[in-house]
Amino acid sequence: MKGIVLAGGTGMRLYPLTQVVSKQLMPVYDKPMIYYPIATLMQAGIKDILIITTEEDSQKFRDLLGDGKLWGIELQYCIQDKPRGLAHALIVAEKFVANDSFAMILGDNLFYGQTLPSSLQNAVKKESGCTVFGYHVANPSQYGVVDFDQSGRVTSIEEKPVQPKSHYAIPGIYFFDSQAIQFAKNVKPSKRGEMEITDVLLQYLSEQQLTVEIMGRGIAWLDTGTHQDLLVAAQFIATVDNRQGLKINCPEEVAFRNGWITAEELRNIAQPLKKSGYGEYLLNLLEELK
Ligand code: G1P
Repeated sequence: MKGIVLAGGTGMRLYPLTQVVSKQLMPVYDKPMIYYPIATLMQAGIKDILIITTEEDSQKFRDLLGDGKLWGIELQYCIQDKPRGLAHALIVAEKFVANDSFAMILGDNLFYGQTLPSSLQNAVKKESGCTVFGYHVANPSQYGVVDFDQSGRVTSIEEKPVQPKSHYAIPGIYFFDSQAIQFAKNVKPSKRGEMEITDVLLQYLSEQQLTVEIMGRGIAWLDTGTHQDLLVAAQFIATVDNRQGLKINCPEEVAFRNGWITAEELRNIAQPLKKSGYGEYLLNLLEELK
């Protein structure tokens, strides 16, 4: 299975920070935001990843992440000229996807939790159709919202409904087969001028090929849309990290635990960073896991 990280949004709600650095390169506590979704895909066992950015920011992402070899993965890049919506991003990724199934994750969505890798790996195993998640939130109107009947069958999916039918938002991680590209091509822009991902999901639903798994309360899904969200996400990451002495979504660690890089390779990454807590953490891992 392949992976796509969508890092093309403008982050207007984070202005004026976005004058200095593009949203997905902003720090969330100890690492750039885009490390989190990449590490999430890596935890699902995905190594072959396409990063979609704006033309303006493309070089910055390449400078930061390179070809992925340091983390034992393969990164490619492509450009979405304008933020035309998540369904449009699927069309941009058509060549990369070819006939494979793939996961798409939004570059500003952060996930964390003990059961997360196993639920992602289950979604990876499905060879056809589409799997998304339902996550209970206080403010569903800001998201795509899914509703169910008593037997758990999906009855509706709506994008940012004013009067949401349930509290279950659809987080920004989607597992698709290659039909998604064709479905995306059928989507017309919404009132906000974007090709909505929910219109792709509705086509899977009408073909009876949509699975919605509940992402339970033990999992944290954090948004980084506003200044306040960004601060809260950083505080959450820092709180868990400082208490446990375990980093959240650290790609170098995931690569090493997955056996995608050797101890020697991890040491080579860590050594020059020794004076930062990050480098020290990676060196300690080598001690702990040897
Ligand atoms: C997008 C999707 C929405 C989804 C959300 C998750 O919203 O359109 O369905 O629930 O991501 O973060 P946007 O970020 O474009 O407001």
